[in-house]
Amino acid sequence: MGTYVVTGAASGMGAAVADSLRQAGHDVIGVDRDGDDVIADLSTAAGRRAAIEAVTARAGGVLAGAVLAAGLGPARGRERTIVEVNLLGVTELLEAFRPLLAASDKAKVVVFGSNSTTATPLVPARAVSRLGRGDVDGATRIIRRRGAALSGPVAYAASKIAVTRWCRVHGTRAEWAGAGIRVNVITPGPVMTPLLRSQLEGATSKNVRAFPIPVREYGTTDQLAQWVMLMLSPAADFMAGSVITVDGGTEALLRARDWPRAVPLRAVPRVLWRMYRAPKEGQIARY
Ligand code: NAI
Repeated sequence: MGTYVVTGAASGMGAAVADSLRQAGHDVIGVDRDGDDVIADLSTAAGRRAAIEAVTARAGGVLAGAVLAAGLGPARGRERTIVEVNLLGVTELLEAFRPLLAASDKAKVVVFGSNSTTATPLVPARAVSRLGRGDVDGATRIIRRRGAALSGPVAYAASKIAVTRWCRVHGTRAEWAGAGIRVNVITPGPVMTPLLRSQLEGATSKNVRAFPIPVREYGTTDQLAQWVMLMLSPAADFMAGSVITVDGGTEALLRARDWPRAVPLRAVPRVLWRMYRAPKEGQIARY
């Protein structure tokens, strides 16, 4: 049995994952703005520091895993807060928890992305690349130029693209995969939680209801918690930097031919060429 940190543990999918972990006999350190073991506001640097300190104090030097589910939906006028919670509320916490995760055998990290990453148009690539460089102010300025009606959904999608890319870029590196930590992303489509309910009742409800879902139903917190539990289990020992889409088919409907796509020759980094050569024993583990 291990100790897991779960952000966003007070509601929706985070709460469902925390319940499943507790039922399986694990210790859970829940982090949430709205009350849990650790009450912290991940939209501010001070709140993130407080969360890190409190979790570190409770973890006893080792974490078996981390589930980063705290997130803010596409609310109008809250672009900066959305980015701070959805991106920095993941990356700053994970960087701080890395030594605790590395102290465990094959620790698992599951980050909540969103299928908005592949279904939202007009997300400025420049905003996403600024987020990749940690320039939240610059990215927020660019996002706000999309105008009041669009900037909320665009901020949401940009924050989730940036956090997904962060996981994919870092997840295969020596200090993560090489240190035994498996970092993967779950990408839900619309799942019936307070977050989705507020969108269905809000000003954009018509657009939300028109969102195409091939299986013609919303997801449930229980379904998503089951996927996360699998991604925390030994079944995920052979996964790193993967994005698992659980969205009733929307991503495939909208992007069927976008991937898989052969890697262009110029993008094949030297490290991959090294892996293509017949590896000697232990070579892949060292790269
Ligand atoms: P939810 O609204 O039920 O739960 C989110 C939790 O995050 C809440 O307990 C909330 O208090 C916490 N939170 C929000 N801002 C915070 C802050 N500043 N500091 C600390 N905690 C904060 O949402 P849901 O639907 O369970 O979402 C979980 C994750 O899944 C989120 O990252 C969301 O973006 C993502 N997601 C949700 C989808 C959906 O349809 N419900 C679809 C795709 C992704």
